[in-house]
This record gives sequence, structure tokens and C-alpha cells, in this order.
Amino acid sequence: MKIAVLAGDGIGPEIVAQAVQVLEALRSDGLKFELEPGLLGGCAVDATGEPFPEVTHKLVAAADAVLLGAVGGPQYDTLPRAQRPERGLLDIRKALNLFANLRPAVLYPELANASTLKPEVVAGLDILIVRELTGDIYFGEPRGIEQRDGQRVGFNTMIYSEAEIRRITHMLVDNAAMQLVRNPRQFDVMVTGNMFGDILSDEASMLTGSIGMLPSASLDDKNKGLYEPIHGSAPDIAGKDVANPLATILSVAMMLRYTFNQESAAARIEKAVKKVLAQGYRTGDIYESGMKKVGTAGMGNAVLANL
Ligand code: IPM
Ligand code: MG
Repeated sequence: MKIAVLAGDGIGPEIVAQAVQVLEALRSDGLKFELEPGLLGGCAVDATGEPFPEVTHKLVAAADAVLLGAVGGPQYDTLPRAQRPERGLLDIRKALNLFANLRPAVLYPELANASTLKPEVVAGLDILIVRELTGDIYFGEPRGIEQRDGQRVGFNTMIYSEAEIRRITHMLVDNAAMQLVRNPRQFDVMVTGNMFGDILSDEASMLTGSIGMLPSASLDDKNKGLYEPIHGSAPDIAGKDVANPLATILSVAMMLRYTFNQESAAARIEKAVKKVLAQGYRTGDIYESGMKKVGTAGMGNAVLANL
């Protein structure tokens, strides 16, 4: 198994280091893999001028799976659109044809108080959002900005072919957004288009208490996948050893399950995460008084100790 590791920007390198440590620990189980580092996002712009350079394209095309931290940072916000880190993320999804994005939103019982919704509304929440990832307004043509009647007018195209919809299937977003806070537990699986899935998955993540807990998988039709936490690069806390590495560690579990068919190794990681929460280990984003506050490395080590 070949795994490309793209740590990215901001907290990316710190959280990916913890996830890699967990993966390395599974070698003793006979899990065989090679890790190959590469650049995506702002760090790639700094090194090559492009957010998704050709060398990275080659690396990920040859890999069986990609582990990604996060991309982006304020220093890149003024770059032309084609050079922004987020463009790199959209381009890698498109280049690898990763049309199916799986975003599980699970509320761990230990974190019920961290949700902004009442515990009785969210207890037991376990939703899988299936988001179409390579179509919709994100890639639709025509798009642009032009002068009409003396002012600038921007336009995008929300477009899906029948084949793309068949691949993923559809649901109405206004009702979904309302139902998600009214009675979130009624959902088991939600299938959405690209843009609505982006919005609904952030909303669902807050139901679980912290966006720092949620992993994701982006798959092609052969289960090759890119695995990343759904949170971003959090530049404000980068390099401080405070970011929550659990979403990235749980993304490794998804990789083992979906791309490598290693269900028992995946379950082992998920069980270890449940154990560290039960033992009271908390990073700042999920901390409550009386719990054991740990940093990024401390949380990673706690997971290792429970594997
Ligand atoms: C996500 C992000 C991306 C998206 C951005 C960074 C382009 O919000 O993965 O959800 O909108 O897909
Ligand atoms: Mg998003």
C-alpha cells in the first residue's frame, strides 16, 4: 500500500504527525505500507508557485490513498485565485475523480455537553453525510464576472448531469437544513450535492460539539481515497500544540476501512479514540472542567497507549 502524506498548512503538520504515529504503530500488526510526503496548498505555493504542483499530481496518482492535513492561511488570501491553497484542494479532488465524499458526524456520549444543542436532542447522533464532490457550482461552466449595464455581474452555474446525480442521488437542502437542527437523529445517511454538502456538513459537525472530531473520506469509483479532517488549517493556533488530532486519526481509520479493507485495524483506532475520551483526555476545543487537558501530542500519545 502506498500512502501519499500531504500535511499542508497551519495545524496540518502537527495533526498529521499524530495520525502517522498511530499508523506506524499498526505495522507491528503486519500492516504493510509506504509513506511518501508531498506538498499541497500554501506550502506548495511557497515551494513551487502552485498549490497543486505536477510533482504532487504524480505522487498522488501513483498512490493508493492520500492522507491530508489541511490547507490555507491568511498570507495566501491576496494571491490570484489560481494560486490559492483551496484551489489545490479542489484540483486534487477533480484530478483523482474523488466524487464521493463521506462525512460521518458522530456524537460521542462523553462529549454530549460540548454540543450547542441540548443533550436530549443530540444524544446518540450518528449521521453519514454523502456529499458529491467533483461537480455542481464548484466546477460548473459558464462562470465569470462581466460588465452589464455599467456594473460588474458575477455568475456561476449549478449543474449536474444525470450520470453524476445517479452516482450520488439527491435531497432538498432547505428542508434538510431545518430538519438537521429540529431533529438531527432522524437522519442516518444524507446524500447531497457539492455545495449543500459543504454547508450541511459544517452544520452537522457543530451538533457533535467540535469540528475537531470529524474525519472524512473522498473516494473514486475504485475506492482510492483522500482522507482528511473536515476542519481547516486553523492558522491562529498553528504550532502551539493545542489542535485536536482526533479527526485526522479517525481519518486514518476511514482509510484503512474504505481503501485498504482493513476493518479490524480501523475499528482498533476508533476504539482507542473512544477509550481516551472515556479516560477524560481533552484538547482545548472539547475541554470541560474536571477533565484532563492535553495538547496535540498528548492526545496522540493517549490514543497510541490505548491501541
Ligand atoms: C471543505 C472546504 C472546501 C470546500 C474549501 C476549502 C474549498 O470547505 O472541504 O468542506 O468547500 O469543499
Ligand atoms: Mg467546508
